[in-house]
Amino acid sequence: MTINPMQYTPKGDKKNSEFFDTYRQKIYERRSAAGLEQLLGDMRGIVIQVQHGDAMAYLRELYLMGPYRLSASYENATHRLFILISQPEFPRLIVMEPRDRNYVDDITMLNRLYPLASKKRNARYVGEIFQTADVEATRCVLESHSIRFNYHHETKNPFYTDSGVVFTFPSDYTGNRVGYCQMNIDDAEAMQYGDPLEMNAADLAHLEEIAEFAKSERLNPLVLGIDHMATRVLAGEREDAILEFLTMSRYYFWGAYNISAMNSSTNVTRNGNVDDDKRSPAKVFTANNIPSFVNSFEHLPMPTEDFVRNFGRRMHHIAYEVLDGDHRGGEKNVDYVVNTLMEKGIQFLAHVVGECLDDPNLKQIFSKHSAYSVLITEYVERCHGYEGFFTKSNVASLTAAAGEDERYDHGHVFD
Ligand SMILES: [Fe+2]
Repeated sequence: MTINPMQYTPKGDKKNSEFFDTYRQKIYERRSAAGLEQLLGDMRGIVIQVQHGDAMAYLRELYLMGPYRLSASYENATHRLFILISQPEFPRLIVMEPRDRNYVDDITMLNRLYPLASKKRNARYVGEIFQTADVEATRCVLESHSIRFNYHHETKNPFYTDSGVVFTFPSDYTGNRVGYCQMNIDDAEAMQYGDPLEMNAADLAHLEEIAEFAKSERLNPLVLGIDHMATRVLAGEREDAILEFLTMSRYYFWGAYNISAMNSSTNVTRNGNVDDDKRSPAKVFTANNIPSFVNSFEHLPMPTEDFVRNFGRRMHHIAYEVLDGDHRGGEKNVDYVVNTLMEKGIQFLAHVVGECLDDPNLKQIFSKHSAYSVLITEYVERCHGYEGFFTKSNVASLTAAAGEDERYDHGHVFD
């Protein structure tokens, strides 16, 4: 079912300003009038950069924790690029690793500003890539809406400026880029990923071993694909971050919920042109309700703003959907997946939250953040055809658990 953003009433109890509601509507109208609704398509790629030397370990982690498998690898002037596929209709995962240990670009400089981001100075979620019918027309329209794009002289990595994708500058509100691509994302030549990279046979064998394990233990197919991705932003920039993303995509603002116990809100944007979010995952924005310095009067929990102060505005977690159902012995699939991963050494924050009894509901859990990408992995099982996107009580528990992740990390950094 296609959603018409202009006629859609957002869900939730988080109060938005009049400014937000007015400009949300104006942005939808302008997207349509400027032709962006027609030009833009679904999400085709998700780009993550890791530190020099971390790519193979990160691929092994991805193989164990999710459905993505390596399809090809390339090398450009500055980076090695690893292209991973789950289902053909789901976005590709593109992992970039700088070739030089001392590589520096905007990501390095941004990470250096934040106490917990600086130790993995080149690790960061970069952004997502949308299909477009015409790259040049898209750039031209978006530039007329004051969206900035990257040009040759501004960055060293040719993937940003001399490939089949054109990328925006990292957003001031989220640190994320958006890329647009007219080519088939699997057409290496058109995409100009670089020269084919010869992989080490032992590395490939190791990945294959994990793929076999995931198959024999049924992790793959139980872990399906990416359901949503959540970016954490500052309290005062919540509305701007959402409106900026609506300007740059054809997503719509699905709704926002106040998570008062955690002094935060969860704000969801979705692609209204797909029946399955995994074809074009939802983009979620989370922010504190009040900034940290005001919270110092109130002393409420504030893990969301703490995260931004520790790591900078950035992608916080990527959520995989787990097939709904029971594993052998009546265990829910998500419990089985998590227990199996724990036996293989993956660490999780707290427990699976939510109950799946007879009523539709959600069960979810966060992993500890990846040592390579700094991203947390969420697993979500929508039991008995749960229609909503999330439950407030689960989000409150998950947010609290994510706060523990940083306390753990603080110990490592400052001890
Ligand atoms: Fe989430």
